[in-house]
Amino acid sequence: MNLPEIVNIDITKAPISKINQVDFDNLTFGNVFTDHMLVCDYEDGVWKKPTIEPYAPFTIDPSAKVFHYGQAIFEGMKAYKDESDDVWLFRPDENYIRFNKSASRMAMPEVPEEVFLGGLKQLLEIEKEWVKKGKGNTLYIRPFMIATGSGVIAAPAKFYRFMIILSPAKAYYSGEVKVLIAEHFSRAANGGIGAAKAAGNYSAQFYPTKLANDLGFQQIIWTDDATHTKLEEAGTMNVFFRINDTLFTAPTSERILDGITRKSIIDLAKRENIDVEVRSVLVSELVEAAKNGSLKEIFGAGTAAVVNPIVGFSYKEEYFELPKIENSFATEIKEKLTNIQYKLAEDTFNWTVKI
Ligand code: COI
Repeated sequence: MNLPEIVNIDITKAPISKINQVDFDNLTFGNVFTDHMLVCDYEDGVWKKPTIEPYAPFTIDPSAKVFHYGQAIFEGMKAYKDESDDVWLFRPDENYIRFNKSASRMAMPEVPEEVFLGGLKQLLEIEKEWVKKGKGNTLYIRPFMIATGSGVIAAPAKFYRFMIILSPAKAYYSGEVKVLIAEHFSRAANGGIGAAKAAGNYSAQFYPTKLANDLGFQQIIWTDDATHTKLEEAGTMNVFFRINDTLFTAPTSERILDGITRKSIIDLAKRENIDVEVRSVLVSELVEAAKNGSLKEIFGAGTAAVVNPIVGFSYKEEYFELPKIENSFATEIKEKLTNIQYKLAEDTFNWTVKI
């Protein structure tokens, strides 16, 4: 695909760049932002002219609905630099489509393609020095939209702000990830907003995740809200299980995010002749497989974390450590996926898009 060009945009450059103050070798995820941001306001049914301006705080009415009713959505994307200094995106059209699905679910206006994708292209052209070469270096892209319209009546706002901010990033997790299987808390319910990238889906995880952290686990594997018997997602990621030589992941649903990394992994694994089954995996199956030795791997998948192996899980206070194996699917798939993203391997799927 080709990204649309944006012509109708005002650009104000930052007087000096912060880039020389950044220690690119020691980044913690999501703490450093580039010099510029994209801003586009929606007022009374119309998207205004977008701007690219110096990254800075802005004022917002204390009664804005984002504060009171959490009307807010976001996306997570990454830019990669290849050996020839070209900058690439990975399946940005999928992020754009999903963003507008989230917008509809949250009764927010859809963002025009020219603003989302054209604006992002323009922003990345300005910030391309922030995308560092070398595998593991990325520029994390955070498009988001908030309800800026004021008034505490519980109804959709009339005013919104769409923004894109950029953050140089390396790994999302540092260290091993052990997970707790949810027996009481839920991430999402049928009919709810689990399939949307709504801000509230993530803040709702903070409390149960904090309880899990206190017990020594980094993340929770979410189970279905009705029965807590089906394995659904891992923390902020989709989740895969390898039992013997078959890879399992739950089907997307109203409760599960349609992850772009998730669907890319399914396609890649199939291409590599790995057996993939997209079906609900029961907690009882996982425990049984851990006990009889057929459970080989669990890994999370998401834009920020890419492919993240899980070293063990706990269920009903019993802890199961995963075996250390050679020829791990997680390692192989991560290698193949990132090789495509960094243009180190042929992109037979046409997933990469040049800026
Ligand atoms: C991503 O993987 O990009 C996400 O949106 C998850 C977020 C919590 C970092």
